[in-house]
Amino acid sequence: MADNIRFTLNDGPVELVGVSPMTTLLDWLREQRGLKGTKEGCAEGDCGACTVVLERSDGRRDAMNACIALLGQLDGQSVRTVEGLREPDGAAHPVQVAMAESDATQCGFCTPGFVMSAYAFAAGAEKADLETIHDALAGNLCRCTGYRPIVEAMTKVAGLPAEPVPAPPARVGSAVFGDSFFAPRSLAELLKLRTAHPEALLLAGATDLGLLASRSRKPPEAVIHLAHVPELTAITEDKEQITIGAAATYAAALPTLIAAYPALKTYLARLGSRQIRSLGTIGGNIGTASPIGDMPPVLLALEASLRLVSTRGSRDLPLDEFFLGYRKTALAPDEVIQSISMPKLWPGEVFFCDKVSKRRDQDISTVAGAYRLRIKNGKVEDVRIGFGGMAATPKRARHVEAALLKEGFAAAAAAMPKDFKPIDDWRGSAAYRLQVAANLLRRLELRIAEPGRAVEVEAL
Ligand SMILES: Cc1cc2nc3c(=O)[nH]c(=O)nc-3n(C[C@H](O)[C@H](O)[C@H](O)COP(=O)(O)OP(=O)(O)OC[C@H]3O[C@@H](n4cnc5c(N)ncnc54)[C@H](O)[C@@H]3O)c2cc1C
Ligand code: FES
Ligand code: FES
Repeated sequence: MADNIRFTLNDGPVELVGVSPMTTLLDWLREQRGLKGTKEGCAEGDCGACTVVLERSDGRRDAMNACIALLGQLDGQSVRTVEGLREPDGAAHPVQVAMAESDATQCGFCTPGFVMSAYAFAAGAEKADLETIHDALAGNLCRCTGYRPIVEAMTKVAGLPAEPVPAPPARVGSAVFGDSFFAPRSLAELLKLRTAHPEALLLAGATDLGLLASRSRKPPEAVIHLAHVPELTAITEDKEQITIGAAATYAAALPTLIAAYPALKTYLARLGSRQIRSLGTIGGNIGTASPIGDMPPVLLALEASLRLVSTRGSRDLPLDEFFLGYRKTALAPDEVIQSISMPKLWPGEVFFCDKVSKRRDQDISTVAGAYRLRIKNGKVEDVRIGFGGMAATPKRARHVEAALLKEGFAAAAAAMPKDFKPIDDWRGSAAYRLQVAANLLRRLELRIAEPGRAVEVEAL
């Protein structure tokens, strides 16, 4: 028998009966619940007009895009919309007061989204420096260029006293919503469902799949939701390696990843926006198998491997062997990516990565490169390089690596066409991509030559 989706909305309980779990949160809020404060701008996760806040049981408040979230994902969660921001006496919330007093509301259409991003930022007790504020706002577009007063309002609300997080409804055991939104709560249950429903799509954060429901208006017919399976959300590390559950969100994995590979700090700040990183996962980034996903080049350079699981057992596969062709992978129909493991850096090893895109924030890569090198007495002794945007799949640059070790950086740059025959598209021509990749190698050479610059990964 089907279960009802239950979640907390603006401190009150919600139980959905007879509502499709594939409905987007935004459509439900506006069209069924009558809460029109949350706006629809782009309907594809880009503009932030639909930003609401997920209130986590550990006290964190994460901004997320309601337009690409499916209702089934919200079971057992707590959500706040702009209507839920007022003070207990009905007065405007301090974030709203700051926005009004700084003259930060202009067209008004994007304002609720900005208010909710500011609310999540204020609740996080974060620093009020420009870098942090820009990061918190990168997922909200203001088309009338009114950012200055919005940034001013953000500085006023930084570090507001923490407000208690409402308790979400408890859910014990697996659930099924409608007849096709499966929400397992154990690995064994997940694998049984995967075998029984090979047609169902695996759904992690829905920051790719949610677009089927929002932009394409063709929601998936059946999904298996991975976010509540503990084996897929665990993040562990030992002296030698880090293992990230495939369904752990970027937001959860970021501190561990950045501590081990500091170059990822700038790089990951440019993977989508906070709204995307609140729900998006590395497993989804690999599973979607896009040639321009940002994590695969990094993970190829880091020599990551995947644990693939099914009712038949588990196997570990180097990521290098996972991508078979354009959006084609080695994942069998009954398999799921359980986790991604990557070795830590040894003494003498360095890691860098670059993302080149048309826009600095909230844009997919034109070319992304990642490099892990072992250097002794100024000489590169070992190197692994991964590139995205240069072939039908994210790919390791084996000829480039060999040339670099044998003859140095100039030869490595010249070897680029042996590894890659990129395509022309609106993001960049093949010639442009080859030139950019060669230039990134030159940049890498300069970084290594100047140790002071080595930790700094600037945005391109
Ligand atoms: C506005 C916007 C900006 C974005 N910016 C970037 C960006 O800068 N860089 C970037 O790389 N991506 C970007 N993306 C794409 C997306 O956010 C990432 O690919 C993200 O990592 C997907 O994770 P998810 O959990 O949301 O995947 P989902 O949408 O849930 O799933 C994606 C695919 O992976 C499969 N999958 C998920 N988990 C597993 C698993 N455990 N095993 C097997 N298959 C699985 C699903 O079946 C599906 O095919 C952006 C998306 C949006 C909407
Ligand atoms: S409507 Fe633009 S991000 Fe959701
Ligand atoms: S506030 Fe809406 S476009 Fe600037």
